[in-house]
Order: sequence, then C-alpha cells, then structure tokens
Amino acid sequence: MSDFPVFPPGFVFGAATASYQIEGAVEEDGRGPSIWDTYSHTPGRTDGGDTGDVACDHYHRYPEDVALLRDLGVESYRFSIAWSRIQATGSGAVNPKGLDFYSRLVDSLLEAGIEPAATLYHWDLPQALEDKGGWRVRETAERFGEYTAIVAEHLGDRVPRWITLNEPWCSAFLGYSVGRHAPGAQEGRGALAAAHHLLVGHGHAMNALRAAGVREAGITLNLDRNVPATESDADLAAVVRADTQHNLVWTEPLLAGRYPATEEETWGELITGQDFRREGDLELISQPMDFLGINYYRPIVVGAAPHREADPALRVATDNRYAEGQYPDVRRTAMGWPVVPETFTDLLTVLKQTYGDALPPVHITENGSAEFDSVEADGSIHDADRVEYLRTHLTALRAAMDAGVDVRGYYVWSLLDNFEWALGYAKRFGIIRVDYDTLERTPKDSYRWYQQLIAAHRA
Ligand code: NOJ
Repeated sequence: MSDFPVFPPGFVFGAATASYQIEGAVEEDGRGPSIWDTYSHTPGRTDGGDTGDVACDHYHRYPEDVALLRDLGVESYRFSIAWSRIQATGSGAVNPKGLDFYSRLVDSLLEAGIEPAATLYHWDLPQALEDKGGWRVRETAERFGEYTAIVAEHLGDRVPRWITLNEPWCSAFLGYSVGRHAPGAQEGRGALAAAHHLLVGHGHAMNALRAAGVREAGITLNLDRNVPATESDADLAAVVRADTQHNLVWTEPLLAGRYPATEEETWGELITGQDFRREGDLELISQPMDFLGINYYRPIVVGAAPHREADPALRVATDNRYAEGQYPDVRRTAMGWPVVPETFTDLLTVLKQTYGDALPPVHITENGSAEFDSVEADGSIHDADRVEYLRTHLTALRAAMDAGVDVRGYYVWSLLDNFEWALGYAKRFGIIRVDYDTLERTPKDSYRWYQQLIAAHRA
C-alpha cells in the first residue's frame, strides 16, 4: 500500500452523485418540474444551454451504474432524491412511481453489498414551491419536513445514512443572491431569509428522520478555507466576513445553537431588524446530529473588494472574494481551482479547534476534481492529474485525522461525469467517463486507482 494513504479499519470509502446531475428522465413517471428544469431551460443561464433532460440517463441505466459501484468496491454510495419525483408540486399527494424508483435503486445497492447514503435535497426544489416564494418563505421548510417524513417512512429501514441538505450555501446564496444557480434571483435579504429557512428545514427533516428511527442523520456543508490575499487590515477584515458568509452562518446555529457574533459587521442592515427568525428556531436547528458532512475542493483567496459593496444582492455572499493573486505556482483544475491539499487539513483541524466536542464525527461527502480528460485511441482515459488530486487530498485528510479530527468516511465526487450545474457538461468530475452521445460509461485510471486503494484496505 506504499503509494496509498492508510485509513483505520471501518473507514468508509464511497462515491457520490446527485439526482438532477445524473438522472435525466425529467418528465417520466409523474416527476414534476424543479427549479433546475426552469433555470436550465431559460436561455443564457447555463453554458451551451445544457440541461439535465437526459444527463447520464441514470434513471434508466441505474443497474449498470450499481454494477460499476460494486466493481469499484465502495462500501457506500451517496445519491440524492428528487423531491419532485416524490411529490410533483412539493406538497400533497405522494407519487408511488417516484418512490418506487428510489426503492429499486436502494434494493439493488443492498444486493451489491453497498450501503445507501441518501441526500434529501441537492438543490432541485419543486418549481411549484418556488412559485410560492421558495426558500424565502418558511412554508418551504415545513413542506421539506413533510416530504422527508414520507421518504423516511418508505426507505428509512433500508438506508442507514441520511443527509438533509447538500451545501445550503449554494441554495441560499448562489440561488438567491449571486443568481448563478436556480432560481437565479439577485436579492440581499431574500438570500438571508433563504439561508435561515434552509436551516429550519433541516431541523424539521431531522425530526422526521428521528421519528422514523433511521440509523444516522446529518447535513452536508461546503465549508471554505478562506485565505487572506495579503496581510492588510482590509483583507483580514474581508476574511472575517467571508468566514461568516460561508461557514459561521451554518456552523454557529447548527453546532453552537447561536447566530454568528460577526453577522452585523458582515451584513449590516440586511440582517438587523429582519423578521424571519422565530423563537424556538435555534433549538430546532441545533439538535444533535450523528455526523457532519463536509464537501471540500479548494481554498478561497479573499481580499477586500469595495467596488462591490454598493450592491446589496452580491454583498451578502461575494462582495470580497476573488481568486487571483494567491497560489501563483500551483496547478489548477479545469474549474480553475488551485490544488492546495494542506488547506483541507487546515479546514478540518480549525473546525475541531473551534467546536471541540460539539463537532460530530465527520464524513467527507464530496471531494474530487474536474480535469481536461482526453480519450486515447483505445478508449482509455489516463487522468493522472485527478489521481494525484485524490491521492494528495486523501493524504491531507489522513493528516487531519492524525491531528485528532474524527473522520469516518470519504465519498469521491463523482462516480460519473455529469451535469455541472451552470457550467453544463463541459466540466468532468467523474472517475467514470460518460460519452454524452452514446451514454456509454468508461472507467478512467482514477477509478482503477480508487479501486486498488479500497482493495488494499480490505486485504
Ligand atoms: C458540490 C456540489 O454538491 C456538486 O453538485 C457539484 O457538482 C460539485 N460541488 C462540484 O462543483
């Protein structure tokens, strides 16, 4: 195992995907439209006008994908459930055909010896709920609790690990502030209300999962390692704001039962005097979780950017972020993201220092890289850069564990090349290539490498 980082017995190796990014079949078996259908079909919103209409056609090809997971040797597979397959409009009648799809998927995973890990919300809000205000309004959080209860009642005994929300930062801030994700709104307070209601929704979902008696329940956050562009006072103050906007807005209510102490200096009048918080919310939000899911990809270089401060919509999320000027010599992925694995160790150790015993065991629910893969004449894909990314990030994760962070599992993003949201299909994160003309799947070298790493741990 010389070239592989070594993890303790019981450590879970997995792979992850999400419904809208892989399923396709958007009008099949009673699925209702989601905000991503609307957004991707709006001209100019996604690169190349790409949509998830077909995606990887996983809805029909899931047996083949489960076979690829089995051959890979993963202990767990993280997928997400499309709310609008279960309730076409996000409330009311249950669609049995939608439930049946996930039931079949879960059964075939279990037959293959793979533990299902289900994400309840990976950004595809039923459009009908957006039409009533989306995450800006509290009702959506309540509907989310009801939907979770339905799903948990049907699948709770077969799915051991449940993730309420995936990366609520993206839902709230990319969706309602920056406008680069569905529903594409550019608001200030609307985004802050959305952030709060997502947390309330998480609380309702936790209650539903507990009532169903599931084994493990938690949330997945994309926490950032914010690095100052320079040591200037302005840039250091920008880091405080960025930490608040990206990390503390979630971790403080979830893990400490309070709102960030730095929220007023970060959001000013946008957060003061707001009326979306209610008594009892913090208790609901901060109930104990069995694990915290963390998605990590790259550090963020933060500097003051006063030119953006005039725009309240951008100010709640991105007024002071930019990626230039730092890490000039490191390799960048196809996303343009700098590859700096030690920042992964730093993120985790700082989180542990900050929250101590209030930090639950961690699962890395996503990590991986988009690369400019090329296909050889014989069809093989030698994605050495992705292998190196995975090797160095797993090594950095192991270092965090040596430093005392209790990490229980790692899910590579992603099993398949897929629909990378506003960036469409051009950005490939898969350890398996998908030919979007034929929908043929071809394992890349990174798939073989990960397969060997897992096998080495089982030997
Ligand atoms: C995080 C998201 O959860 C996932 O949907 C996305 O594809 C990856 N990051 C890569 O950007």
